[in-house]
Amino acid sequence: MCKNKLSGIKMIYRSNREEVKRSKFPSFLTIDKLEEVKSFHKTMNNYKKTPLVNLNSLAKELGLRSILVKDESKRGGLNSFKVLGSSYAIAKLICKRLNLRLKDVNFNYLKSEEVKNKTGEITFVTCSDGNHGRGVAWTAREIGQKAVVYLPKGTARRRVEAIIELGAKAIVTDLNYDDTVRYAVKIAQENNWEIVQDTAWEGYTEIPIWIMQGYAAMAYEALEQIEEMGIKKPTHMFIQAGVGAMAGAVLGFCVNYFNGKHPITTVIEPVNAACMFRSAEINDGKPHGVIGGLETIMAGLACGEPILYGWEILRDFSDAFSMCPDYVTARGMRILANPLENDEKVISGESGAVGTGFISLIMQRKELTEIKEKLALNQNSTVILFSTEGATDPVNYRSVVWDGKYNIPY
Ligand SMILES: Cc1ncc(COP(=O)(O)O)c(C=O)c1O
Repeated sequence: MCKNKLSGIKMIYRSNREEVKRSKFPSFLTIDKLEEVKSFHKTMNNYKKTPLVNLNSLAKELGLRSILVKDESKRGGLNSFKVLGSSYAIAKLICKRLNLRLKDVNFNYLKSEEVKNKTGEITFVTCSDGNHGRGVAWTAREIGQKAVVYLPKGTARRRVEAIIELGAKAIVTDLNYDDTVRYAVKIAQENNWEIVQDTAWEGYTEIPIWIMQGYAAMAYEALEQIEEMGIKKPTHMFIQAGVGAMAGAVLGFCVNYFNGKHPITTVIEPVNAACMFRSAEINDGKPHGVIGGLETIMAGLACGEPILYGWEILRDFSDAFSMCPDYVTARGMRILANPLENDEKVISGESGAVGTGFISLIMQRKELTEIKEKLALNQNSTVILFSTEGATDPVNYRSVVWDGKYNIPY
């Protein structure tokens, strides 16, 4: 365990590359499986690859070879990567109901009256901090169905409005994320609604796996873009986790893509919602939750209970687990909003910018030298980061970027 004076930042490093060779690669995240996902996404009317931004000047400033940032604020007009998962899962669900193979149909067909007549009316229900709910609401609207989204207490107004604008019902509860999931499931069961949740539990596994496959498409796009840019394979990857579906999907796909020689991978969580970190610390192989209010500005990462499939991948294939206080992501938001020299600007929200903030502090602050050395970060390193959302809470975004809220401790 590395501790330091920048209060709250912690990392558990446990290089397991020898064990990786013995672990079973995740079979639901192979290149073949992702080809099907990719073909489906391409049929969506709002589909376009999001940019992979090469921040040359920032890399030089921090003493790295390259920093590549996948900018998910540009994802289909929805401001986060999440629709990749919800659209694919809902499409698979409808195909299952109608006994169709997804590769034989496209999104336009799923939007047709013919399909709606066959399925009848469906209400999709989910719990979300905002982003996943927006993806579910968008997909439901596109295919002429209904969506109901439950959000945890304190959800920012704009995140709620964005869901309502898509024609869905949005209900803010008085509960934290994990309890809101349980509440949404109860209501769904009472009403015979279809649950589209991005986390799994006993007896509910098929949809979360489809969602993870959908998320992995973000990593597939990025790896293709890296090849097109003629850049060498990334040496390092930082991925933020809430329940860990996205991080597990990205890492699981990279394990298959690089045949076990994937980048050195650090998982990042907010201090008050660090369930992967806690599970790694307990180190009995099982996922462990954290309880409490899960307070953090990183709303998308404010989840206390890991998804089993994500945890298993992170446990077997990641190199480090870390926890970061809010000032880390706030620094990342400001860095990405204020590019150096010819670097492009990236609008990155609270749950998107933590990797950038973390890498900047690791490279610049003496207190984090141990982490830098453990991760072998230096001028030969090519780092990939996933800015998974834009300014989904514009009020807080401006407080951070304009007013310097959540400054780092000096
Ligand atoms: C912007 C953003 N980034 C990352 C995540 C984390 O995804 P997961 O909960 O699968 O770990 C979320 C989840 O809502 C999110 O909204």
